[in-house]
Amino acid sequence: LNSVKIHSTGMYVPSNVTTNDDLTHWMDTSDEWIRQRTGIEQRHLSEGENTSDLCIKATENILKDVNVNPEEIGLIIVATVTPDTQTPSVAAKVQSAIQAKNAIAFDLSAACTGFVYALSVADKMLKQMQSDYALVIGGEVLSKIIDWSDRRTAVLFGDGAGGVLLKKEKSSSDLFIEDLHTDGDRGNAITIGGRKLSNPLFTSDDEDEGYMKMEGRSVFNFVTKTIPGSIESVLDRGNMTMDDIDYVLFHQANAKMIEMVAKKLNSPIEKFPMNIQKYGNTSAASVPILLDDLVKSKQLKLGSKQKIILSAFGGGLTWGTVLIEL
Ligand code: ACO
Repeated sequence: LNSVKIHSTGMYVPSNVTTNDDLTHWMDTSDEWIRQRTGIEQRHLSEGENTSDLCIKATENILKDVNVNPEEIGLIIVATVTPDTQTPSVAAKVQSAIQAKNAIAFDLSAACTGFVYALSVADKMLKQMQSDYALVIGGEVLSKIIDWSDRRTAVLFGDGAGGVLLKKEKSSSDLFIEDLHTDGDRGNAITIGGRKLSNPLFTSDDEDEGYMKMEGRSVFNFVTKTIPGSIESVLDRGNMTMDDIDYVLFHQANAKMIEMVAKKLNSPIEKFPMNIQKYGNTSAASVPILLDDLVKSKQLKLGSKQKIILSAFGGGLTWGTVLIEL
C-alpha cells in the first residue's frame, strides 16, 4: 500500500513585527479591541519581499535538515491568493530557486483553505507518480491586497509562508480521511477583486477591484455553524472520537471562533493550539505555520503516529478538514 507522510516542515515570515499599537498610528483602532475580538497581538508585514520570496525561504527551511536531492521532488503546489504574478506561478519560481528540475509546479487558489486542499491534491497525485516526494506550501503577502483604510479587515491579517515535504512510503496502513467542500453561492462573503473586463469590443463600467472585502460577521457565523460538523464527519468515518486525536490544527483567523468550535465539539481547548497572537491570519500559510511551530516545540513529532486534524475555511466559500497520522 502507498502511504503519504509528512517528512519535514518549515516556515518563514518577514522580519518586521507590527504590533496592535503600531496600527493605531495608521487607523482608528486599539490594542484592546483587536485582542478582545480576535486574540491577535502582532503580525509580520513584508517590507519588500513578495509571496515567492517568502515561499522560497520557507522551502529552504523545509529542506534544510533532510537528505533529499531537489531533483527527487516530483510535485510542487503553492496554495496562495496573493501570487506575485498570474504567471509564472509562485510554485514555478520555487521550482527554479531550488532547482527541482523534475517537479511539475502549479498554484492552487482556495483562499485560507488552500493548504488543506493542496494537501489532499498532493496525496492523490503523489500516489500516482514515479517520484516519492512532493512539496506543499501555503504562502501569502496579504498586506498588498488589504484595504488599509478599512479597519474591519486591515487589523486581522499578516504575511508569511509555511509548508511540508511529503514522502510516499510502502506501508500496511494509510490514514488520510478528508471532508472538503465549496459553496460558491456564498462567494460574496470574501472577495479579492480582479481587473475589470476591457477589450477593443467592450469596456465595463465597473471599477477595478484590487482589495479584499469581507463580511466578517457572516463568515464568523458560517464557521461556528459548519466546521464542527466537518470535524465530526472525519472522526465518524475513522471510527474515532476527539479522544483519539492529539491536536486539531485549525485555521488561525480568530481565537474566539476557535474557542467556540472546540466547545461545540466538547473538546478541551488544549487540543486546539493557537499562534494567532504572533502572526494574525496568514490565510493559506496559517495551518502550515502552526504545524511547524508545534513540530519545533516538540508537541508534534513526525513519524510518531500521533493523529492530527487539519481544518480550515475561507474565500469561495471553501472549507475542508483532513485527519492524518504523523
Ligand atoms: N478597531 C476598532 N473598532 C473596530 C474595528 C477595529 N479594527 N473594526 C471594527 N470596529 C468596530 C465597528 O466599526 C463596529 O462599531 P459600530 O458598532 O459602532 O459600527 C464594532 O467595532 C463591531 O464591528 P463588527 O464588524 O460587528 O465586529 P465583530 O464583533 O463582528 O468582529 C471580526 C469583527 C473580528 C472581523 C469578526 O467578525 C471575525 O473574526 N469574523 C470572521 C472573519 C474571518 O474569519 N475571516 C477569515 C477570512 S479567511 C480568507 O479567506 C481571507
